[in-house]
Amino acid sequence: MKKTPSRKSIAGLLLSAIMSFGCSAEEQHNSTSENESPIYQLPQSPISKCINVGNALDAPNEGDWTYRIEDYHLKAIADAGFDTVRVPIRWSAHALATAPYTIDPVFFDRVEHVVNTGLDYGLQVIVDVHHYDGIMQSPDEHYERLDQMWRQIAKRFSGRGDRIIFEVLNEAHTELTNSKLAKLNSKVLTTIRNNAGSEPWIILGGDEWGNLSGIEDARFPDDPRTILTFHDYSPFPFTHQGATFTVEKYPLGREWGSEKEKKELKALFEDAQKIGKKWNKPLFMGEFGVIDGVPNSWRAEYIEQYRRKAEEAGIGWCLWDFGASFAIYDVSTREWEPKILDALMSQ
Ligand code: BGC
Repeated sequence: MKKTPSRKSIAGLLLSAIMSFGCSAEEQHNSTSENESPIYQLPQSPISKCINVGNALDAPNEGDWTYRIEDYHLKAIADAGFDTVRVPIRWSAHALATAPYTIDPVFFDRVEHVVNTGLDYGLQVIVDVHHYDGIMQSPDEHYERLDQMWRQIAKRFSGRGDRIIFEVLNEAHTELTNSKLAKLNSKVLTTIRNNAGSEPWIILGGDEWGNLSGIEDARFPDDPRTILTFHDYSPFPFTHQGATFTVEKYPLGREWGSEKEKKELKALFEDAQKIGKKWNKPLFMGEFGVIDGVPNSWRAEYIEQYRRKAEEAGIGWCLWDFGASFAIYDVSTREWEPKILDALMSQ
């Protein structure tokens, strides 16, 4: 897990500022007031309020990173008012390395149990491919394996309607750049459509670790049931303070909320709207959040501002995470952190 802030993010913000100035009156047709989003009405996202049950099935083995998904977690998520749960999954650690790349049946059963439990509690469930490190380093060598894993996954969940949503690949980076992703996204999309037996929504992302800048200059297949995703943890020194897994280490005690930071937040969603309009697709902020250990009042303030801006922009959001290192639910007491739940759900 090595993350660095996007190299393109500063350029993206500048571009956003330039584009905002350059907008014609017609382009601003949905604008509310001078200081508010949204500018554009984006296609409706099927996902509104979502949370990641991260660090469980995306660890090398579930439990390795302490958190395990329990059925009651999914009930708590549905009861709290979320409509969707994103389940990050490290399929690559549970499939043969050579053709036919068979997925371990025990692992497959475990994933299916989690998916079925989420559906039973009334949630939509996002099944992704997470932490596929090999494909980031050597895309050409892993391309066929990813596609064949998706053939099995789509088949397994086929004919189940559109409450299971498939996300082709989490956070492309390093060698997996947008030119390679264009081919990969289009191939896997066809594989899912050919095997899932229904018209599920499919989530596609860009390079640059899934940052917004990654979907700006990506190329996407022309498919009306696709959603574009981006992640945002800016500013990293605030959201990842004290994290042991980042390349750069950020000291504790960093606050968020200066005028400059609020402007950057506004610019982020203006930029996102323009990119959503360019592609004419629903947008989904599939990860955002603040690490546990930061005072909850600080976390709540940041999280509320981000999710409100996302909602104003017509963009679905998914908090990272439920019960692990960015947790907002205490699995030992079985209680939500009330300030943060309120920050997510208040009107
Ligand atoms: C990674 C997690 C990490 C989180 C926050 C996710 O994409 O999968 O392991 O904790 O980002 O950095």
